[in-house]
Amino acid sequence: ALDIQTLRARTGLIALDPGYANTGSCRSAITSIDGERGILRYRGIPIEQFEHSPNFVEVAWLLIFGHLPNAREYADFSAELTACANLDEGMKHHFEGFPRAAPPMAILSAMINALSCFHPELFELEDEQRFRAAAAGLISRIRTIAAYAYRHSIGRPYIYPHPEQRYVPNFLHMMFSDPYAEYVCEPLVRDAINLVLLLHADHEQNCSTSTVRMVGSSQANLFAACAAGVCALWGPLHGGANVAVLRMLEEIHQGRITPEQYVRLAKDRDSKVRLMGFGHRVYKQFDPRAQILARVAERLLAQLGRRDPLLDIARRLEEIAREDPYFVERQLYPNVDFYSGIILRAVGIPTNMFTVMFAMGRLPGWIAHWWEQAGAGGRIARPRQLYVGPESLDYVPMDERG
Ligand code: ACO
Repeated sequence: ALDIQTLRARTGLIALDPGYANTGSCRSAITSIDGERGILRYRGIPIEQFEHSPNFVEVAWLLIFGHLPNAREYADFSAELTACANLDEGMKHHFEGFPRAAPPMAILSAMINALSCFHPELFELEDEQRFRAAAAGLISRIRTIAAYAYRHSIGRPYIYPHPEQRYVPNFLHMMFSDPYAEYVCEPLVRDAINLVLLLHADHEQNCSTSTVRMVGSSQANLFAACAAGVCALWGPLHGGANVAVLRMLEEIHQGRITPEQYVRLAKDRDSKVRLMGFGHRVYKQFDPRAQILARVAERLLAQLGRRDPLLDIARRLEEIAREDPYFVERQLYPNVDFYSGIILRAVGIPTNMFTVMFAMGRLPGWIAHWWEQAGAGGRIARPRQLYVGPESLDYVPMDERG
């Protein structure tokens, strides 16, 4: 078999692959997906094995450094995360410049990029020690930035990171504590958020991760590449789908449309409506993350002693789609975004923060891919195109144009 470079050199042919549906862009040892069988593994470990003692920080380490941390590594990394949770005062002033209604994803991307200004010492990542400090700094600070973006949107003062609390409780503390009333994080809430974050932590060459790798291929720094990743994640066909799913379920709940009518609309190509949280480029089976999240949503609501009518609606949509030849033939199943919002909503995360939560979860994956690529020292990413414009035209001076 000829590799693509040799093929081009010999024949001048270019492979046209819109959406890169069948183009491998790199070799990677981080995450594997078996889309036919619905299997997802982080560094070889099936994700189901994280369900019952979910620990996002442990998974972040696993993805970035390639193995589960031992007790010492875990303690040191956790301490590093706690130590660098504060934002520089200069960064805090940035928040004031954003309107209250600013989309939190815009703030997140801008602030991650701004870290480049405040931590230039982390640019020169010539050794693993320095890279570890940059990775810990970013994983820690994205949580502070996310919480402050929320506090800014509701016009409440920022809450300093807690000097002792672990990653998830500390995030919820910054989101929901007040100077006069500290938020108390229930273990089941902590576990649910840990699980949501770790199930989002990596998914090989998805749109945002490929963006991070593409930006990183020009040797742009880690912060710049991850800021670009946030922008790619924002769209409703990618991470923004978790917000779109909630809006869809609410619309049905408010009685504006029935589940059956919604599915009918989603099948009509002229409607431009899709069944949000359904379908995936790689999975031609159930997305294993969706299966876990569906179980956790049920379990969490039961433990909280609540019912959420949106969960019933989601189940109903899934049922209708399962019986419908349109979805069966196209192998469209619930993806990670279908049930995650129900969990986030149950623990009090506002809808406009859902995609930010996805970004927090995905960050270790972005960092792992950026580092893997930097280590491999590959070529700059530079796809080709098929030009379909006019062959050759002459410039026409302004006063001679019609
Ligand atoms: N609802 C209705 N029809 C759909 C859906 C859907 N959710 N998803 C795909 N289809 C149809 C398409 O119309 C197309 O039909 P056709 O063959 O008659 O033209 C066929 O299924 C294939 O769809 P593509 O858009 O070609 O699939 P692609 O792999 O490019 O897109 C994507 C995958 C973006 C996830 C798509 O399924 C989608 O838009 N889903 C809804 C948005 C969503 O949930 N995104 C989150 C994805 S997971 C993640 O990023 C975390």
